[in-house]
Amino acid sequence: MRDIDLTNITEAAAQTFQGLPDARQRVLVQALVKSLHQYAKDTQLTHAEWRAALMFLHRVGDISSDKRSEFSLLSDVMGLSSMVDLLASDPSATPGSVLGPFHALGSPWLSSPANLIGANDGQRVLLRASVCDTSGQPLPAATIDFWQNAANGLYWQIDPSQPPDNLRCQLKVTAEGRFEIATIRAVPYEIPTDGPVWLDLVQPAGRSAWRPAHFHLIVSAPGYRTLVTELFDAEDPYLDNDVVFGVRDALVGRYHDVIDPQACARIGLTGSTVPVMNIDIRLAAV
Ligand code: BEZ
Ligand code: FE
Repeated sequence: MRDIDLTNITEAAAQTFQGLPDARQRVLVQALVKSLHQYAKDTQLTHAEWRAALMFLHRVGDISSDKRSEFSLLSDVMGLSSMVDLLASDPSATPGSVLGPFHALGSPWLSSPANLIGANDGQRVLLRASVCDTSGQPLPAATIDFWQNAANGLYWQIDPSQPPDNLRCQLKVTAEGRFEIATIRAVPYEIPTDGPVWLDLVQPAGRSAWRPAHFHLIVSAPGYRTLVTELFDAEDPYLDNDVVFGVRDALVGRYHDVIDPQACARIGLTGSTVPVMNIDIRLAAV
């Protein structure tokens, strides 16, 4: 085609991807071409702006490695990661929320009640949860993958002062579909502030770098959609401006002081009262 102009370039460019063998990839790429062209038209994108955007993406790539994905962070701060989570969430099940960069396969298997406190500083708390289907039937075959940050805000992978596997575990729920994890209260955490996503985009917008305190969970059960989600602390100051848009009402839990001398003894608390967050997790059938 040699008579390319503003009226036909979008169709022409989209059409060139018609040969992609995978039907879904074809849909995704052609729709992306159309959206990008529409964006350029809507904003009357200039050469200088287009070059600046490409340079920005170069810098995002330059700082990325097998240990760090600045592209994921870009997706997170633009709300795209959470958009994909919301699109994948079943309205009658517990909503999904960002996986984040600190999940790693192979957490140690513990049994419920699990105790992750070890030598960690921080407030000792209990997470008590049930896992059921969308009609409230317990799912005794469910398994949990859990991880969180330490009292200094860091995850064990990026903090040599923490022992390997600190504050993470996998476990099977009980026959009643319940589990308990004794741990420390998670603390708010800042996204990386040394890369182009923060320096060129988020900070200049006057946004905060903080994520509200959260526990990460992956909940799986045969026959049910695996749920990647987070649980937030109702008292956290950053709940209303999570930099990656992960907070949903159903994922905010409040600690209540519970009198439970046995649990206190188990987790090394003097006295008989322990802060407990109770959460019911609902999985959608596949
Ligand atoms: C996190 O949950 O740890 C996280 C999520 C997105 C970006 C950075 C960190
Ligand atoms: Fe996190």
